Amino acid sequence: MAKNRITFICQNCGAVHPRWEGRCDSCGEWNTLAEESEASGVGAGPGRKQRKGRVVPMELLDGDTKDSPRVETNVAELDRVTGGGFVPGSALLLGGDPGIGKSTLLMQASAALAQRGHGVVYVSGEEAVAQVRLRAQRLGVASQPVQLVAETNVENIVTTLEAGKPPALVVLDSIQTLWTDTVESAPGTVSQVRSSAQAMIRYAKQSGATIVLVGHVTKDGQIAGPRVVEHMVDAVLYFEGEAGHHFRILRTVKNRFGPTDEIGVFEMSDKGLRQVSNPSELFLGERHKAAPGAAVFAGIEGRRPVLVEIQALVAQSSLGTPRRAVVGWDSSRLAMILAVLEAHCGVRLGGHDVYLNVAGGFRIKEPAADLAVAAALVSSLANKPLTENSVYFGEVSLSGHLRPVSQAAGRLKEAGKLGFDRATYAKGSEVVKAPGLKLDTITTLADLVVELISGAAEPLRDDADAGKE
Ligand code: TYD
Ligand code: MG
Repeated sequence: MAKNRITFICQNCGAVHPRWEGRCDSCGEWNTLAEESEASGVGAGPGRKQRKGRVVPMELLDGDTKDSPRVETNVAELDRVTGGGFVPGSALLLGGDPGIGKSTLLMQASAALAQRGHGVVYVSGEEAVAQVRLRAQRLGVASQPVQLVAETNVENIVTTLEAGKPPALVVLDSIQTLWTDTVESAPGTVSQVRSSAQAMIRYAKQSGATIVLVGHVTKDGQIAGPRVVEHMVDAVLYFEGEAGHHFRILRTVKNRFGPTDEIGVFEMSDKGLRQVSNPSELFLGERHKAAPGAAVFAGIEGRRPVLVEIQALVAQSSLGTPRRAVVGWDSSRLAMILAVLEAHCGVRLGGHDVYLNVAGGFRIKEPAADLAVAAALVSSLANKPLTENSVYFGEVSLSGHLRPVSQAAGRLKEAGKLGFDRATYAKGSEVVKAPGLKLDTITTLADLVVELISGAAEPLRDDADAGKE
């Protein structure tokens, strides 16, 4: 019998420590060490009992394979993200902040599958059956034959599932509440989460059911508990959204059976999540025509074109160090654009406060937004609206040149579809035909500035700043 030693395991990174410490030396997090028993936990090695293995057959790469069959949920945005539906026998991890709508999404997906005649079991470890029922009523799906279980013990769950016909989908809400008899630590600890996930994944592989594990996200955006769960499952999806906004984005981070660059867009309403098949409409909804400082960026999220409005406000500053505030974009990227405008385009913003906002609470990660940001900044400084119905995209390099970005065709097509009639982008992008759009390709950022300020309402030079020097 292995001695039942106690070890301390960091709940953030999974590092094993022999004694308690306030701070994990491995990841630097404070107060994350929890006591776990070594005999069964992460620190446990293989058991003492030696067993002779059996011969397993080997195969060649070239053989008969079938495309993995799919179980479509008919929630199109979810099917798009999973790559065409759930794969039988696979395990999926759905992460997201508390209250973002994970349980709601899975209840809607469960109901949709049940309606199509598939067996669905919803295991709730966080809410009582009555609470889950209330949600289902609110979503208007209470009449669907979804089996509810309020249970947290893995052995009980597996025995219950094995007693009946294998379901097509098992939802486990959430992985942090599950615990197994084989591990002595408290639920939610690394060892428990890992062993419980392992047991459920084993069940999925044996029975052919798809299991969906719900995972909470820590304050720095990682799925709480060990990253190892992410390695164990076949697909990892994140459900994210901006506080105070209704839209939610479902993103694939890992997918063994499909693309990882897909997103699904939803809107939280009083009757649950509504699918948004045309996200651009959501992020352009608040657009006021011809306001100075607003530029429309033709972006790509995953593989989908999304048009977003970028708003800039450039105002004379009374502070020694002017303010730069950014919402929805990278602030160091903004500093770079300001520097390029100053160094290569003669646009001085050193004496101005700069506020940049991406409309609708959207977050842009693409460098392709550089050109639209620069256009919005110059437009606000010059107090002159940009050409109406125009979109912008292109990456700005430190030399002031514009670099072409990928998927120009997709961006232009979306712009045309939404009634835009002009596009300004980097020269050298893929050559595309876009009927109905006036295409304006430019080589340097200075070209854009010259075009924008011809006839500007106010002089662009920052005289107040020039006086200080
Ligand atoms: P929930 O699915 O419980 O979030 P999670 O499981 O990720 O913690 O969703 C909770 C939030 O969604 C809650 O703040 C209320 C809101 N909500 C709606 O706005 N409309 C609805 O129809 C439902 C069911 C929830
Ligand atoms: Mg929940």
